[in-house]
Amino acid sequence: MKVYFIGAGPGATDLITLRGANILGRVPMVLYAGSLVPAAMLVHCRADAEIFDTAALDLEQQEACYRRAQLEDFDVARLHSGDPAIYGATAEQMRRLELLGIEYEVVPGVSSFSAAAAVVKAELTKPEVSQTVILTRVSGRASAVPEAEAIEKLAQHKATMCIFLSGPHLKKIVADLRLHYPDDTPVRLVYRATWPEEKTYEGTLGTIIKDTKRGEWSLTTMMLVGAALGNGAQVESRLYDKDYSHIFRVVKKRKQKEVAQKSVEDNAQDGKKELV
Ligand SMILES: C[S@@+](CC[C@H](N)C(=O)[O-])C[C@H]1O[C@@H](n2cnc3c(N)ncnc32)[C@H](O)[C@@H]1O
Repeated sequence: MKVYFIGAGPGATDLITLRGANILGRVPMVLYAGSLVPAAMLVHCRADAEIFDTAALDLEQQEACYRRAQLEDFDVARLHSGDPAIYGATAEQMRRLELLGIEYEVVPGVSSFSAAAAVVKAELTKPEVSQTVILTRVSGRASAVPEAEAIEKLAQHKATMCIFLSGPHLKKIVADLRLHYPDDTPVRLVYRATWPEEKTYEGTLGTIIKDTKRGEWSLTTMMLVGAALGNGAQVESRLYDKDYSHIFRVVKKRKQKEVAQKSVEDNAQDGKKELV
């Protein structure tokens, strides 16, 4: 018997991994985070699977499901939104499984920050602009953020930031970011990336508050901020530069050198032949 923590991805039913979908297709019990994972995702489950929405269950009730599966010896899939490693509340479940002696495995998923970047067609890391992505959130009732990781402290790096659970806290987040980022710093909001009701906002730290209404962006919003999202100062990576060699292209250069060397030798041979 085994529990599989599976990343469901951001919402679209074809953004779960093949491995995750295959497990869903064979296990008899599925627990899924219904507040963030759309019910449409259950299309991958066995028709006769027992399905529980964990939004209505506390940890003890979820543990009771795992205990029953252990007793009756069948596998369980625990479906989390995005990637289970990020704000997934998986650690506490894993601790309980370990105490119960239940084996578990994690199947990664497409996190909502990658999905949001894809929706707005952004590269989060641009040469000489930002090579660092900070994934963070504001303090909530369920989990506090350590003081040293407050948004205004992280903002000092001026790196690209992906701010989870941000929708209802835009005013405070923007005020904290503006302590360090200039007002023309690009900002993107993506609500329910890859869901049918997906919507986006594109603006800057200086425009976002006047452009958005209070309460318009709910919890299922990803906020992306940073100079890398804009079109200014475009420096190209050297990775595909024709003069840049690396382990995969050095071979080509060496081959070119070998060919050149061979043709010099052939010419020399031909020269000798002519003399003869
Ligand atoms: C509890 S966290 C779970 C994050 C998830 N594990 C992940 O990797 O995306 C929930 C937050 O993730 C973000 N989120 C999850 N799905 C999203 C989506 N489809 N579009 C935009 N943001 C999303 C929102 O910021 C939401 O408040």
